[in-house]
Amino acid sequence: MPEEFVVTPWEVRGKVDYDRLMEQFGTQRIDAKLLERIRKHTGELHPLLKRGLYFSHRDLPWILDEYEKGNPFSLYTGRGPSSAMHLGHMIPFYFTAWLQKHFKANVWIEITDDEKFWFRDFDTLEEATRVGYDNILDIIAAGFDPNRTRIFLDTEYIRKLYPIAVQIAKRITFSTARAVFGFDTSNNLGQIFYTALQSVPAFLESIEQGRNVPCLIPCGIDQDPHFRITRDVAESLGFSKPALIHNKMMPGLKGLDSKMSSSAPDTAIFMTDSPEVAIVKIRNAFTGGRATEEEQRRLGANPDICSIFAYYTYLFAPEDRYWEEVETTCRGGQRMCGDCKMELAKHVVRFLEEHQTRRERARDQIEKFVVRD
Ligand code: TYM
Repeated sequence: MPEEFVVTPWEVRGKVDYDRLMEQFGTQRIDAKLLERIRKHTGELHPLLKRGLYFSHRDLPWILDEYEKGNPFSLYTGRGPSSAMHLGHMIPFYFTAWLQKHFKANVWIEITDDEKFWFRDFDTLEEATRVGYDNILDIIAAGFDPNRTRIFLDTEYIRKLYPIAVQIAKRITFSTARAVFGFDTSNNLGQIFYTALQSVPAFLESIEQGRNVPCLIPCGIDQDPHFRITRDVAESLGFSKPALIHNKMMPGLKGLDSKMSSSAPDTAIFMTDSPEVAIVKIRNAFTGGRATEEEQRRLGANPDICSIFAYYTYLFAPEDRYWEEVETTCRGGQRMCGDCKMELAKHVVRFLEEHQTRRERARDQIEKFVVRD
């Protein structure tokens, strides 16, 4: 009996079987041929692509066909400002900034303060908006080009978004929303309507340019259900269906089937964590180590179940040779978990310090990025 797991835009639980999930969602695998097609345009492949962490897509070959025909695409991604951002939330932003650089694409970034209020992360809407602005600092620090990037909060850009949301909402029945998201009669009207607002930005570049511009959405696979709806309604509105490229969910520090959770701060490293806090979290993380040092030297450890190794894989060993060395010495018993954790901690501390410097600098750049009605 396979282990059960749940992946929805609001909940990721259990050990996710990504092959089964692709089947359930009806998405396509990113195979070697597709990777090679991307590499032709970007030179180098991003480590998240090479390591299969961006693993699934919808219509990506079409995006590349259009690009090769001289019809470039726009990028759209977003953030629901529920709390400070953690490393997992940053993944799609790093990757989108990389795509922007290589494909010279315009980027739209939606900050869904309304979503996070409707889904009860906050008692007041003002608080959701405030956290949204705080998250924008992290997003800017991911390295977007100010001349090609627009960031907006739903509550501050609603005059632009609403006429399109109205068109979309008319085409989605409650029965569709219930089937896709599992809603019932206890859901509030904002929650039921919300998916219309997450669809809109896929069409903003087309509306702005007054012609159909292909749109690619990099996001965690958990967000895919929204975009199944977006794709269903796109053509009836005169737009192409947006394409998607999905990443796996970076695990929490308590094991590969653990989740990064804002309500359990020791499960995740937040972008605003101090070095001391990050080090303690790493020290307490789950590893694939043996019961004793002697056993580990003799039998080796198991990176396949190790949170710490996952962190090297996702973000902290971008060079393949180093990443392979970590894995080989772990399996071979030359690497002890305590040392390996402290080695990772050094990378994480440097990473956070650099991020936090860029984050502070971003305070003066907000007005270059944020668009409002
Ligand atoms: P949110 O704020 O939950 O997540 C922001 C982005 O981060 C991804 N993500 C992760 N990726 C890797 N590892 C993790 N542990 C992890 N946790 C979250 C999410 O998939 C997402 O891409 N409703 C959305 C906001 C939104 C959006 C969009 C997202 C609006 N428009 C367009 C993507 C694309 C949300 O609450 O995301």
